[in-house]
Amino acid sequence: MEKLLIKGGFVVDPSQKLEGLADILIEKGKISKIERNIPPSGDEEVIDARSMVVAPAFVDPHAHLRDPGQTYKEDIESGSRAAVFGGFTTVVSMPNTSPTTDNPAIVEYQIQKAQKVGLIRLLPAGTITVGRKGEKLTDFNALKKAGAVALTDDGTTLTDESLLKTALYWASDLGLLVMDHAELPSLSRGHLNEGKVSSLLGLAGRSRSAEAIAVARDGFLAQETDAKIHIQHVSAKESVDLLSLFKEKGVNITSEVNPNHLLLTEEAVLKYGPLAKVNPPLRTKEDRKALIQALAEGIIDCIGTDHAPHASWEKEKPLDQAPPGMLGFQIALPALVKLYNEGLITLKRLVEVLSTTPAKILNLYPELGTLKVGTTADVVIFDLKHEWVFDEKINPSKSSNSPFMGRKLVGKVFYTIKEGKIVYRGKS
Ligand code: NCD
Ligand code: ZN
Repeated sequence: MEKLLIKGGFVVDPSQKLEGLADILIEKGKISKIERNIPPSGDEEVIDARSMVVAPAFVDPHAHLRDPGQTYKEDIESGSRAAVFGGFTTVVSMPNTSPTTDNPAIVEYQIQKAQKVGLIRLLPAGTITVGRKGEKLTDFNALKKAGAVALTDDGTTLTDESLLKTALYWASDLGLLVMDHAELPSLSRGHLNEGKVSSLLGLAGRSRSAEAIAVARDGFLAQETDAKIHIQHVSAKESVDLLSLFKEKGVNITSEVNPNHLLLTEEAVLKYGPLAKVNPPLRTKEDRKALIQALAEGIIDCIGTDHAPHASWEKEKPLDQAPPGMLGFQIALPALVKLYNEGLITLKRLVEVLSTTPAKILNLYPELGTLKVGTTADVVIFDLKHEWVFDEKINPSKSSNSPFMGRKLVGKVFYTIKEGKIVYRGKS
């Protein structure tokens, strides 16, 4: 077993209110010591982390790894490489695979394949309903036994509220987290935000009320059932107001925001076309501002990357035919570093939203999302100032659907460590 000594880094661990220079010793896959100065003993690999931030590795509650069935877009191997490139060692995979992850066999396949690849801890989400059809609940118990940690019909939401309520009761009994793509289908049949840009392009839009109404419904059902609910990819300012209200009332509601909604607005569709098509859609600058503020203040709890690879030939289709989604692992840290550099979030909050809080939401804390002595040594080491170009040469994903392809980004991961093993080494 590797022994690692991380020397000279600026350690940020919100779980211990730690923010300062320190060395970290890792032995037998665990954090064994954090001290101002740990001299090397000669039998370990020493990582020079001077001028870098050392933090608990990132945890992503929302990624599409496309395996099984759509492995021309991404698979568990390329997806794992993309995750560790972005500093993530723990990833919740979305169940809109083909066939859908609605049964234990697929959950087991995903976990086993990820273990064979050996880079990330893949935690599958199963579907809430069979085939994601919104009609019949899956066997939650069997999914849980196979290793699923959450349930979602991501890509769509349930339109049968009574079924959703039953799902919340059952999931809560089993300790499974229900995650919702909160967007009512009847109000979101279009391809981009319903507003200025959709009318300019003469395309059907997706209404902001589609999200707000679904968030309100989810909040009330969580309150009534006393179950936990996690709202995926919040995009509209009205949702932020509702989340704030429910949180004030003590409802067990958490939420995530995607890097794409933090970085871009609907105008991006005019510049990048289908590459900027995502669900829920990119919205206005007021929405973007509200999302950033909510993330800084804790109304929105964490980041979900919504890593959603699609092949070039799919994204070359016209806006109304191209599938929604963009790469997420690679731009998550740069998105947060941008907010940090603009003085909109603190470094502590950056680490919290990428690691500590998602670990808590997924019930992985206090083993993950922390650098406490004795816990699993999942660590990320990144440079806040490093500029790099996101190009084909560096991209580990099978797909390259990102408006940020070819663009300069600031903030780069140099080491990703899982259970004391270096699973990614970045080059400058
Ligand atoms: C997701 C995908 O590609 O699977 N796309 C997206 O735009 N977010 C599905 C989804 O989460 O809606
Ligand atoms: Zn979704």
